[in-house]
Amino acid sequence: MKLKEITEGKARLLVPDPEEYKKEEKYDPSWAPVFYNPRMVFNRDVSVVVVSALSPKSIVDTLSATGVRGIRYYLESSKTEEVLFNDKSPNAVELIRRNVEVNGIENAKVYNRDANSLLYELKVDYVDVDPFGSPAPFVLSSINATKRGGSVAYTATDLSPLEGKARRSCLRKYYVHNQRLSFSKEVGIRVLVSKVVRDSAVLERTVVPLISFYSDYYYRVFFRVLGGARRADNALEELGYFIECQDCGYHEGTREKCVDKCPYCGSKNVKVVGPVWLGKLVDEEFLGKVMSSIDKFEYLTSFQMVKELLTSLRDENRFLAYYNLDFLASRHKMNVPPTRGMLECLGEATRTHFDKKGIKTNKKYEEVLECLKTSFSYNR
Ligand SMILES: C[S@@+](CC[C@H](N)C(=O)[O-])C[C@H]1O[C@@H](n2cnc3c(N)ncnc32)[C@H](O)[C@@H]1O
Repeated sequence: MKLKEITEGKARLLVPDPEEYKKEEKYDPSWAPVFYNPRMVFNRDVSVVVVSALSPKSIVDTLSATGVRGIRYYLESSKTEEVLFNDKSPNAVELIRRNVEVNGIENAKVYNRDANSLLYELKVDYVDVDPFGSPAPFVLSSINATKRGGSVAYTATDLSPLEGKARRSCLRKYYVHNQRLSFSKEVGIRVLVSKVVRDSAVLERTVVPLISFYSDYYYRVFFRVLGGARRADNALEELGYFIECQDCGYHEGTREKCVDKCPYCGSKNVKVVGPVWLGKLVDEEFLGKVMSSIDKFEYLTSFQMVKELLTSLRDENRFLAYYNLDFLASRHKMNVPPTRGMLECLGEATRTHFDKKGIKTNKKYEEVLECLKTSFSYNR
């Protein structure tokens, strides 16, 4: 394998040389013998910051590829007592071994196993699951591998099922009846959380979302894992359904499964999606801890972006779902209002990292519609 040395965060890494694996001047990381995607640096930067606040003693980087995550957690998050790396690909394992050595990681163990079978043999403080596509096949085993009080994180790049485009796939992987809504970017992450909550309940455990976000073409969610059937029952109570009226644009999160007409305008043209997580996506106390030590990560290339994301997550956390202004305006046959104007008119409202055209608010729907009409008078 032709390799190239790069640096990411504080890690020196040998990765497949993209020049060697190009096809017609194009390069996709999946064409190389071992996967390394520079577009995921932001995901890894945020993860380093979050894992630092978790301060786990033992970590498993379940689907390691080059080993970049486990190595960065060790070098940048906290010197953990034990870092385990795993990949089913022998090429990946060979590269992980070299990268572990280059970075002087002590206490590393490198496995060449199927992730699920390995996870059923482990108990660690932090499990990282960063697969190709959907993390669904690894949820049960990763929850099982996490010590009580420990944490687990998932990346999901299978946006089609999660955002309701590939509906059958969503039902197969997440047991959720999904379809496209105007705020599907947020629905997607709530589908993923719902799956993790339900799989945890099977094991008489529960998960609390610590940090959940969307970026670029993926979701990333960190959970605290707790024990107890009663806690699992309580978490299941926070599952429900989203309804969205295709005529007037009204939406809500509800525990009712059978909603056949819009509570606002009475139209029967209503979409229902669920079961989805209707609870909080962020644990504010934990987020406060993450933010309080953010300055030590000033060396990250994406430092400002990480800070902005965390601030945005804090501001968004008190609102469920968002209004996409294009969708709302089209339902009422109006021009799209300026976002700033809508925010000023509503007062209690914020933008959302899920969608540039989205606003979150707890104001009554009548007030949202009133602002839709009047917000043109605000300065853009
Ligand atoms: C998306 S890549 C991981 C990327 C890496 N975490 C990073 O941040 O660069 C997924 C990796 O999982 C490995 N993999 C896929 N299925 C697996 C399985 N069932 N058990 C173990 N490894 C698996 C693949 O060989 C691949 O290297």
